[in-house]
Amino acid sequence: MKRKVGILISGRGSNMQALLAAAAAPDYPAEVALVLSNVADAPGLALAAAAGVATAAIPHKPFGRDRAAHEAALIERLEAAGVEYVCLAGYMRVLTPLFVRHYAGRMLNIHPSLLPGLEGVDTHARALAAGARLHGCTVHLVTEDLDAGPILAQAAVPVLPGDTPDTLAARVLVQEHRLYPAALAALISGAPHWAAETAVLANPLPPVA
Ligand code: GRF
Repeated sequence: MKRKVGILISGRGSNMQALLAAAAAPDYPAEVALVLSNVADAPGLALAAAAGVATAAIPHKPFGRDRAAHEAALIERLEAAGVEYVCLAGYMRVLTPLFVRHYAGRMLNIHPSLLPGLEGVDTHARALAAGARLHGCTVHLVTEDLDAGPILAQAAVPVLPGDTPDTLAARVLVQEHRLYPAALAALISGAPHWAAETAVLANPLPPVA
C-alpha cells in the first residue's frame, strides 16, 4: 500500500512536480495526499490542482507572530489528509520545534548545496563566489537545526567556466528532480541511506552541454 505524502511549497513547485510524476508510477511507494502552501498564489498550487491533487493554502500572515498557531493549522490539515510523510519542496519558512518534532524521522527537505556547507539561501552565488568546482543538492531529514539533519542522498554537478548563479542553479535543479523521488522512496522502503545514493550513482549524470 502506498504511503501518504504531503508536500509543502511556497513557490513554483518544480520539485513537487517531480515527486508527483514519480508517485504516478504504480510501483512507487508513495502517493501525494496533499500539496500545502503558506502562499495562496504559489504557482505550484495551481500546477498540483491541474494534476488532480488535493491542495490547500494556509497563509501565515493572519497568524502574525504566532508561528505555533500557524503550524498547528498546517498539522491539522495534513492529519486530516492522512499524511504520514512530509516533503518540504521550496517551503520558505523556518519550522519551529513543534512542527519538526511532530514529523521527526518522516520529514524531508531538499537543499541546493552539498551539505554540510552552504546552508541557508543564495547557495549558487555563494558556490561561485567561493570558487567551488563541485556543487549539487542534498536530501536530508529535517531536524531542529537548519539544513543540518541526517543526509539521505546527494547529487553533484560540476561548476563550469562562465557559470552564473542561474546556469548553475539550472544544472543542479535537473539533479534535484531525480534525487528527491529516489530519496523519498528509499526512506519509505526502509532502505539504508546508501541505497538512495546508489540509485542516483547508478544513473550517470547526463553530459553537460
Ligand atoms: C529548490 O532549489 C530547492 O532545492 C530549494 O528551493 C528550490 C525550490 O524550487 N529548497 P521548486 O519550487 O521546487 O521549483
